[in-house]
Amino acid sequence: MKENQEPSRRGFLKKLGTATAAAAIGTSVFAAERQSKPFEYLKRSSAISANSQINIALIGAGGQGSEDTSVALKVPGVKLVAVCDLYDGRLNDAKKRWGADIYTTKIYKEILNRKDVDAVIVGTPDFWHQQISIDAMRAGKHVYCEKPMVHSITEGPAIIKAQQETGKIFQVGSQGVSSLGNEKARELLKSGAIGQLNYAEGFWARRGPVEVWQYPIPADASPQTVDWETYVSNTHKRPFDEKRFFRWRNYTDYGTGMAGDLFVHLFSSLHFVTGSYGPEKVYASGGLRFWNDGREVPDVLLGTFDYGKNAAHPAFNLSLRCNFVDGTSGTTYLRLVGSEGAMDITWDKVVLKRNKVFQSEDPFYLEKLRQAGDTNPERKKMMPPEEISFEADKGYLGGPYDHMNNFITAIRNNGKVTEDATFGYRAAAPALLCNDSYYQNVPMHWDPEKMVLKRG
Ligand SMILES: NC(=O)c1ccc[n+]([C@@H]2O[C@H](COP(=O)([O-])OP(=O)(O)OC[C@H]3O[C@@H](n4cnc5c(N)ncnc54)[C@H](O)[C@@H]3O)[C@@H](O)[C@H]2O)c1
Repeated sequence: MKENQEPSRRGFLKKLGTATAAAAIGTSVFAAERQSKPFEYLKRSSAISANSQINIALIGAGGQGSEDTSVALKVPGVKLVAVCDLYDGRLNDAKKRWGADIYTTKIYKEILNRKDVDAVIVGTPDFWHQQISIDAMRAGKHVYCEKPMVHSITEGPAIIKAQQETGKIFQVGSQGVSSLGNEKARELLKSGAIGQLNYAEGFWARRGPVEVWQYPIPADASPQTVDWETYVSNTHKRPFDEKRFFRWRNYTDYGTGMAGDLFVHLFSSLHFVTGSYGPEKVYASGGLRFWNDGREVPDVLLGTFDYGKNAAHPAFNLSLRCNFVDGTSGTTYLRLVGSEGAMDITWDKVVLKRNKVFQSEDPFYLEKLRQAGDTNPERKKMMPPEEISFEADKGYLGGPYDHMNNFITAIRNNGKVTEDATFGYRAAAPALLCNDSYYQNVPMHWDPEKMVLKRG
C-alpha cells in the first residue's frame, strides 16, 4: 500500500531530504522551506478490494484473539467459521458475538482438520504459539500468530522452517509495523531527518490491577468449565489453578513477562523503522517491588541493548523500561535519537524534534556553508520549525487494521507480509534474552543475522 502524496507534500519531503544533507554541515533544510507547517497528515490509500472470500478460525478466544477477529471481519471478504478455546465461557461469548452458527470446540486440531478454514488466528497464551502455528501450517492453513512469536529462544527456528517448507503466509501480531506512524518514521530516518541514529528508548508506566495482569477470574471457573489437562499438556503438569489459567502472564511456564509482552512491540517497530536485525548484546535488571501476588515475573524491568553497525544502520544503543508500580500510569513511548534531532513514534503519529538551529559566526562553519553553495552565509536566514507533528488523517483505520489487511492481502495475492516468521523471531529473541539475562544475572550475546546465541 502506498500513501497518497499530494504534490506540495512531495515537495516538502524533497526539501526535507535536501535539508538533511545541509544539516550535516550545520545548516538546516528547514531554513529553505518557507511554506513548511509544523503539522502534516499521514494518509493511507483506500483498501484493496476483496476478490475472494477468506474463511478464518480463531484459536484462543480471549481478549486479543477476539480483538484480532473483529478487526479481520472488517476486511472485505473475510468470514469467521469456527472458534476454539479451552474455557466454556469464551466459546459461549464467541457465539453471542459472532452468531450461533459458528462452530466451537476445545480441540484446536478439529479446527485444523476443517476443509473450510483458510487461515487461523492464534490468540492463545505465549506458550502455545509455536505448537499450534506449526501444526496449522503443516495442516495447510495460513497463520496470524500473536506476539511474541515464541515462548523461549529455542522455539523460533522450527516456526521459520515450517513457514519455509509449507509456503504458508505467516504473520506475527505486532500491529505497529504496518501502521502509518511506523512507515513515516522509517521514511524520516532514511531521509536523515534526525541525522545519524545513536540511541533509542522505550518506556511503559502502568499501575492499575488489570493493567498489571490481575485479571478478574470468572465465577464459574472450574475443571468442569476449563480444559486444564490440555492447557498444561505441553508444560509442567500441576493441579487445576484458576490464576495460572486466567492470569497466565504472571507465570513463566505460560507467559514471557514484561519483555515478551511489551518490549517485543518496540523491537518490532524499531527493527521495522531502522531495518535492523536486532541487538548483539542484551542486559537486564529489575525486581519485584510491589505486586507480591504470587507472580514469578518482575514488576520493574530495565533492559539495555547494543546494536552493532551494519548495512542498514550505524551502531546504536537501546534502553527499554517498564514499571508496573508507576503512579503516573499510562505513559508509553518509543523515541529515536540522532545527531540532528529525535522523533517520538506511535502507530498514528510521529513528532519530529530538531536541534535548535542558530547562525554562527565561526569562520570554519561559514566556510563549510560557502562550500555547500551558500554565496552569502553571513546573511540572516528564515528559521525552520523546531518540532513537526505528522498525524494520521481522520478516518485512518489504524495499525491493527493495516496489519490484518496486510495478512489477508498476502493470502489473496500469495504475497509478502511485514512481519513474517524470521522478522517475528528477530523481534521476540531480544525480549526473551532480556528475561534470560534477568534470571541468570548475566549479559546475553546474540548474533541477530544468523539468529544464534553467542558466547560472551
Ligand atoms: N498484539 C497486541 O497488541 C496484543 C495485545 C494483547 C495480547 N496479545 C497477545 O495475545 C495472546 C493472548 O493474550 P490475551 O490477553 O488475549 O489473553 P487471554 O487470556 O485473554 O486469552 C487467551 C485465551 O486462550 C485460551 N487458550 C489457552 N490455551 C489454549 C489452547 N491450547 N487452545 C485454545 N485456546 C487456549 C484461553 O482460554 C483464553 O481464552 C498473547 O500471546 C498476548 O501476548 C497481543
